[in-house]
Amino acid sequence: MKRLPMIAGNWKMNTNLNEAVKLVNAMLPGMDKLKGVEKVVCPPFISLEAVKNILKGSSVKLGAQNLFYEEKGAYTGEISPLMLAGMCEYVIIGHSERRQYFGETDEIVNKKMKSAVKNGLKPIFCVGEKLEENEAGKTEVVLTRQVKACSDHDYFTHGAVIAYEPIWAIGTGLAATASQAQRTINFIRRLVTEQQGGDIGGAVRILYGGSVTAANIADFMKEPDVDGALVGGASLKSDDFLGIVRQASEIRG
Ligand code: PGA
Repeated sequence: MKRLPMIAGNWKMNTNLNEAVKLVNAMLPGMDKLKGVEKVVCPPFISLEAVKNILKGSSVKLGAQNLFYEEKGAYTGEISPLMLAGMCEYVIIGHSERRQYFGETDEIVNKKMKSAVKNGLKPIFCVGEKLEENEAGKTEVVLTRQVKACSDHDYFTHGAVIAYEPIWAIGTGLAATASQAQRTINFIRRLVTEQQGGDIGGAVRILYGGSVTAANIADFMKEPDVDGALVGGASLKSDDFLGIVRQASEIRG
């Protein structure tokens, strides 16, 4: 099945407004030209509008890094799907940093997924195991629990993308090997088909995330089940991110 590869940059809690504008301006001209790969940048909330205006008319898409599942009300400091609808196309949901530092459970992640899709936003749904779970041979158990918690709705026919991000590989410089990513992503694909039926697992795009750089992206893109990458640190340097998108476009575009 032909799936359009995607490279998404997760800027996390980096860049103020001026820096975000500068960063997107630096990468846009080079990135706009690259074909056969969907390109997404996910700046902090306060820079979404400015970045959206810069991206207008280009082939680069915008994503948010989080949302709250309620649509409005007394939830001080939160950002609702209604505020993001029309502003961006994608939203990262269930990132391990949200699960780890902000207490997001599988149940909360599922509520966020539901709320995003209801409001026309496409989730980048993050799953992944901790180092100790990996070492204890529990990777598949953890992934099954995470995917199953979000299987009561057809998110994947509504444009949701999955990002497999082993927590031990995030921000550590210790990326999974391409064959580890391939094996685990293939497992997730089979899991999705098992739970959603049809060939949803064959159609859904599944990205790898965790210490992706311009030096290792080519290996990941050569694997048949890896449809691209969710990139953290290397998405904050325009040349590095461009190098990643360029190789993805050359290999799979
Ligand atoms: P990293 O982050 O590329 O800096 O490892 C990836 C992510 O957390 O999405």
